[in-house]
Amino acid sequence: MRRSVTIRFFVRISLCPLVYIGPDAFKHGLFHVGLENTKLRVIDESAFNSSQGIKSLTLNNNSLNYLPELVFAPLTFYGDPQETLLLDDNPWRCDCQMRDYAKWLQSALNIWVLHCDAPQSLHGKVLRDVPVDQLTCDCPHLTSPNISTAGSTTVVPAGQRAVLKCGVTCCPAAAVVWTTPAGMKLSVDSDVTGISVSDDGALVIASATSANSGSYTCLAANYLGKDQATVQLTVTGSIK
Ligand SMILES: *[C@@H]1O[C@H](CO)[C@@H](O)[C@H](O)[C@H]1NC(C)=O
Ligand SMILES: *[C@@H]1O[C@H](CO)[C@@H](O)[C@H](O)[C@H]1NC(C)=O
Ligand SMILES: *[C@@H]1O[C@H](CO)[C@@H](O)[C@H](O)[C@H]1NC(C)=O
Repeated sequence: MRRSVTIRFFVRISLCPLVYIGPDAFKHGLFHVGLENTKLRVIDESAFNSSQGIKSLTLNNNSLNYLPELVFAPLTFYGDPQETLLLDDNPWRCDCQMRDYAKWLQSALNIWVLHCDAPQSLHGKVLRDVPVDQLTCDCPHLTSPNISTAGSTTVVPAGQRAVLKCGVTCCPAAAVVWTTPAGMKLSVDSDVTGISVSDDGALVIASATSANSGSYTCLAANYLGKDQATVQLTVTGSIK
């Protein structure tokens, strides 16, 4: 008979602006995953599927609005004293996006608490105590994101401003994450000099240099799905 060996391993990415966690982001054998203070905005529903051994996961002080239904299902979190799941200090929006997660939460032996930040009527409430029929969105039709990059700057002289559009059609509203050619991830609350994401989802480069040439990818996600689109930017000449 084969025996499995638990390798206790620790990963702490705190304070790096990670912004987005994609499918199967962590490998087997991880024990503690520290993701606090990483400006995290979107967690893919399969983020932890390859890391069932995680016993301690810290997601506090991020920009998360909702959690996908089964995001924690591959983990246990059944109250083992060694287990920790920290979810505090996120702008949790207890609306239709949290409905499936709340159903899962109410059906599982999950002792970890998440407090709603919005809407105002549910502010401070414990999600598990909110009846799921109160978790609603004001949408004529519920739709997954569809991105249009129409109107983006594609060629810009060095020293000029470039605006890369990420117009998202969907309801409820999606979280938008841009990835630069260097692999940096940015969202509306990023704090990087000279490059920012505006409220309408556009990536704005204040004064382009040749180092800004390359492929930029915009990802938009709501609880129904995600879409992504790429814009190729060429910076011509150099700053005199
Ligand atoms: C929250 O995270 C930000 C970085 O995203 C950090 O600057 C700040 O100190 C953190 N706040 C707390 C209370 O840990
Ligand atoms: C990830 O795990 C969940 C829960 O165990 C499962 O429902 C889902 O299908 C998995 N996703 C993928 C892409 O394997
Ligand atoms: C996204 O919107 C465009 C333009 O309206 C449409 O042609 C396309 O089919 C849509 N894509 C999806 C996946 O809904």
